[in-house]
Amino acid sequence: MNSKFALAFLLLHALAIPAAAGEPAKSRYTAVHASADGIGKVYLDREIARVMSFHGADWLERPERIEEERPELLLSALELKPGMTVADIGAGTGYYSWRMAQRVGASGTVYAVDIQPEMIGLLEQQMSRRRAANVKAVLGGLTDPGLPPASVDLALMVDVYHEFEYPYEMLAAIVRALKPGGRLVFVEFRAGDAAVPIKALHTMSEAQVRKEAAVHALEWVNTARDLPWQNAVVFRKPSGLTKGATVD
Ligand SMILES: C[S@@+](CC[C@H](N)C(=O)[O-])C[C@H]1O[C@@H](n2cnc3c(N)ncnc32)[C@H](O)[C@@H]1O
Repeated sequence: MNSKFALAFLLLHALAIPAAAGEPAKSRYTAVHASADGIGKVYLDREIARVMSFHGADWLERPERIEEERPELLLSALELKPGMTVADIGAGTGYYSWRMAQRVGASGTVYAVDIQPEMIGLLEQQMSRRRAANVKAVLGGLTDPGLPPASVDLALMVDVYHEFEYPYEMLAAIVRALKPGGRLVFVEFRAGDAAVPIKALHTMSEAQVRKEAAVHALEWVNTARDLPWQNAVVFRKPSGLTKGATVD
């Protein structure tokens, strides 16, 4: 299946995940008429995209991803070391989780977080098939991935942040889970690039990523722009912060 057809398939199966009980205040979000790929909720001038359903999980394991995303190039840029504790937020089937697991080794840990129980089930099958014993699957919530505070050296989000229904709350919770000096990496398909065959709401510009990160206690470190279709925008939690703070 080529990428345009694959994406059309995924959007047909996109989920409307019910809101959690006890939802946080909505004041930072604006309701709009939902576009075909969106949930009708705007955050910092961006409509949030619908979540990719587990029905489309095969797309995440497609062989052509190696050429389209160059995962090894991305992971090399992250400088993962044996013994690190890392998180794959919105892990899907664990395409990146097991690649990170190989790099942090048996003495390291990968928390693989997703909100769809079915995706967690698929991820667990993949990790068992690949004997990736250092990957811990975590069923996260819409506003919090549920990771231990100040425990993570690096959190990776590949093609997921634009789907967070509560991006502000999720980022605040991820910052709390980072160790002081820990890094957070947004990998998003490049917006406005005609060579990237992905629907607009499933892409983000580097400027938008940086705008949304700027309201949290995160320092921009660098942006890898040499991936075929994506940018990897890297931030750091300042070393002086033990819990994580946000700026409203
Ligand atoms: C397009 S898939 C990408 C999966 C994986 N990162 C990859 O690149 O193969 C997006 C995933 O993010 C998950 N997701 C969406 N919102 C989430 C949230 N608030 N917390 C955790 N996972 C989330 C979806 O369930 C889906 O599995």
